[in-house]
Amino acid sequence: MKVLVCGGAGYIGSHTCVTLLEHGHDVVIFDNFSNSSQVVVDRIGELSGASVRFVRGDVRDQDALETLLADGVDAVIHFAALKDVSGSCQQPLVYFENNIVGTIALLHAMQSAGVKNLVFSSSATVYGEPEAVPITESAPLRATNPYGLTKLVMEQVIGELCKTDPEFSAILLRYFNPAGAHPSGHIGEDPNGAPSNLLPYVAQVAVGLRDRLDIFGNDYPTRDGTGVRDYIHVMDLADAHVKALQKLGQGGCVTLNLGAGRGHSVLEVVSAFECASGRRVPYQFVARRHGDVAEAWADPSRAEKILGWHAQYNLRRMCEDAWRWQSGHPNGYRS
Ligand code: NAD
Ligand code: UFG
Repeated sequence: MKVLVCGGAGYIGSHTCVTLLEHGHDVVIFDNFSNSSQVVVDRIGELSGASVRFVRGDVRDQDALETLLADGVDAVIHFAALKDVSGSCQQPLVYFENNIVGTIALLHAMQSAGVKNLVFSSSATVYGEPEAVPITESAPLRATNPYGLTKLVMEQVIGELCKTDPEFSAILLRYFNPAGAHPSGHIGEDPNGAPSNLLPYVAQVAVGLRDRLDIFGNDYPTRDGTGVRDYIHVMDLADAHVKALQKLGQGGCVTLNLGAGRGHSVLEVVSAFECASGRRVPYQFVARRHGDVAEAWADPSRAEKILGWHAQYNLRRMCEDAWRWQSGHPNGYRS
C-alpha cells in the first residue's frame, strides 16, 4: 500500500515507518518537525534499507495534503499531534488548533482526494479515571485535560464521518503507555526538556543526566502503593499499525485498545530498568501528581480478535531496548 504517515518522524511514527517499509509498503512521511528532526527521517531510511519520501509540512495545510493524497495514496496513518498533558493545560488553544483543526484539515483533504482509509492515534487518556480495570473499549469516556479532549473530540468526529460515508474506513487505536525503542538502539524516544513520562525519566537517571527520580505518590491502593500502568513496547505498537492497515477498506469505524493487558507499578519499572541497565536508579517519594490515577491497564482482547495482534515484548525487553537507545544516545538525536 502507499501510505501517508502524518507525524511519521515522531517517536511512535518513526518505529512504525521502519516496520511499514520492512513489510514492503510505500511510505510518505509528512511532518512539520515541531517535535522531531531530519535525523530521524535519515535513520528510518538507514534502518529499513528502503527509500523514504519525506515532505515537510503542517497537517493544517489542507492544500499541501490534497496534493500528496492525489498521488495514489491508499491510506493515512495520523500520528501528528501535540501530546504533553501539562502543556495542554497551559495552552489549550494551541492544542485544539494543532490537534483538532489539523485533523479536520486532513479529513477534508482525504475527502477531496477520495482517500477513505485512516488509522488514527488515540490514547487511553480518553478513559479518564477508570471505574474498573482491565479497561474495555466500552468503558465510559471522559476528558480530564485539554489534550484528552482533543483525542475524544477527534474520535467522535471520525466516527460521525464513517456514519455519513459508508465507504470511509477508520481504525482508532487507543495506546496505553508506549515505551522502549527500536532493538538496534538507533531510534527511540527523545523528549524535549525534562521528560514527563516515567520510562524516559528513569532512563535519563540511569545514564546520569538526572540525579534521581521523583515517584509521585506511594499511598495509592495498589500492591506497593505506587501507580500501576500498562506499558506497551513501541515495536508492538508499530506491528499493530501494519496489521490495522490490512483491515481497512471495509467501511466503518473500529476502536481498539493497544496495551499488554497487565499493569506494572512504578517501583517494578525502576527495578526492571536497574536489571536491564546494570545501573542504580535512585528515587524519592514525593506527593501525588495532580490528575494521576491509581491504576490503568487494558483489556486488549478486541485487538487480538480483530487484528490478530497481541503484545510480544515484556517490561524487561522495553527497558533493555530503551537503555540501548539511551546509553548510545545520552542526548537523544543531538548525540
Ligand atoms: P511525537 O511528538 O514523538 O510525534 C508526533 C509527531 O507529529 C512529531 O514528529 C511532530 O513533529 C509531528 N507533528 C505535530 N504536530 C504536527 C502538525 N501540525 N503537522 C505536522 N506534523 C506535526 O509523539 P508520539 O509519542 O510519537 O505520539 C504519536 C501520537 O500518539 C500522537 O497523536 C499522540 O497524541 C499519541 N499518543 C502518544 C502517547 C505517548 O505516550 N507517546 C500515548 C497515547 C497516544
Ligand atoms: N511517574 C512518576 N514519576 C515521574 C513520571 C511518572 O512517579 O517522573 C509515575 C506516574 O505517577 C504514573 C506512572 O509513573 O503512576 C506513569 O506515568 P506517565 O507520565 O509515564 O504516564 P501516564 O499514564 O500518566 O500518562 C501517559 C501519557 C498520557 C496518556 C496516558 C495514557 O503521558 O498522554 O499515558 O495513554 F494519555
